[in-house]
Amino acid sequence: MTAPLPQPLPPPLPLPVAYPVWCARGALAGVAEVVRRCAPAHRVAVITDTTVAAHHAASVTAQFPPETTRLLVIPPGEQEKTRARWAALTDELLAWGAGRDTTVVALGGGVVTDLAGFVAATYLRGIPVVQVPTTLLAMVDAAIGGKTAVDTPLGKNLVGAFHNPAAVVVDPDVLQTLPEETLRAGVAEMLKHGVIADAAYFDALLQALPSLAAEGGRAAALPALIAGSLHIKADVVAEDTREGGLRQILNFGHTLAHAIERELAFGIAHGEAVAIGMVLEARLAERMGVATPGVAVAVQDAVRRAGLPDGLPAGVTPAAVVRATHGDKKVRDDQVRYALPRAIGAMDPADGRWGVAVPDAVVEAVLQG
Ligand code: GLY
Repeated sequence: MTAPLPQPLPPPLPLPVAYPVWCARGALAGVAEVVRRCAPAHRVAVITDTTVAAHHAASVTAQFPPETTRLLVIPPGEQEKTRARWAALTDELLAWGAGRDTTVVALGGGVVTDLAGFVAATYLRGIPVVQVPTTLLAMVDAAIGGKTAVDTPLGKNLVGAFHNPAAVVVDPDVLQTLPEETLRAGVAEMLKHGVIADAAYFDALLQALPSLAAEGGRAAALPALIAGSLHIKADVVAEDTREGGLRQILNFGHTLAHAIERELAFGIAHGEAVAIGMVLEARLAERMGVATPGVAVAVQDAVRRAGLPDGLPAGVTPAAVVRATHGDKKVRDDQVRYALPRAIGAMDPADGRWGVAVPDAVVEAVLQG
């Protein structure tokens, strides 16, 4: 299905990050070339899940010599992003005798890119990982920025490491096999990029929503929109890799999203939870006097037009969500801080903290509607 890579490998995107990011139709055929250039290795471990393996594992592993290549396949789903799965993958690499001269290729959605990235970050104190995201969400968010992690029963991504990839390979052609709802989940993170940094990008994405709905992963607008999102995210992480300040704007919508996900025992797609979180946090921004009136309606309208949910799911109470926000990584001195927009395309700096402390009572009142 994936077109052969145009020869030679096209130039990577001009992004301000320390590693090259390719975004081109057919780029999947160039994974071995990217490994050769950016993370040359004696052995290559391709980590993926069964869903992605069915479509793409053979075409990727065939690019490497069989005797020095291992394909490690995990079951799909967020429930696999655990310390137990990290240990099992690490043990498989140890049993294979993989040394520091091994490169991990993470081929999959956000679960695989986070988990395989964490395996690479910790294996023998760190080996290179080339991120090859196969969902829209992983392309525009998870695979760049160097965050790797696993979940624990107390919350998402609570055990992890910053470990920049050696390179990222984005092939928009792989989206052609993506289910509609998985594509929509990625659109939520793209809308977030527009809200936090770029009103023109937000508008361009809104214009493209009908074609994304009609044509899915085949939509002609997708490669440019993915590149636009990559530019926004790269600009942020280049300025603040370790989330000491500005990078927190990428958490817009996520404080409530993570709480909702926890309340539903992760029985909701991350992108759907982010969509709900963005609508509610935009309302919070207006209630706190941070956002100009109209921002919350604009966010809600965009979320609806993208076919994403915009309110608390049935059975999830405002009080329970507020309680769950206290398990978030962003809690400081027991105060929950929210990255809030001032306007579409501009976040509130909050005196350089990029997070506004909002009293629980205010959050609960906003969630009650
Ligand atoms: N997904 C948010 C970040 O990379 O910081």
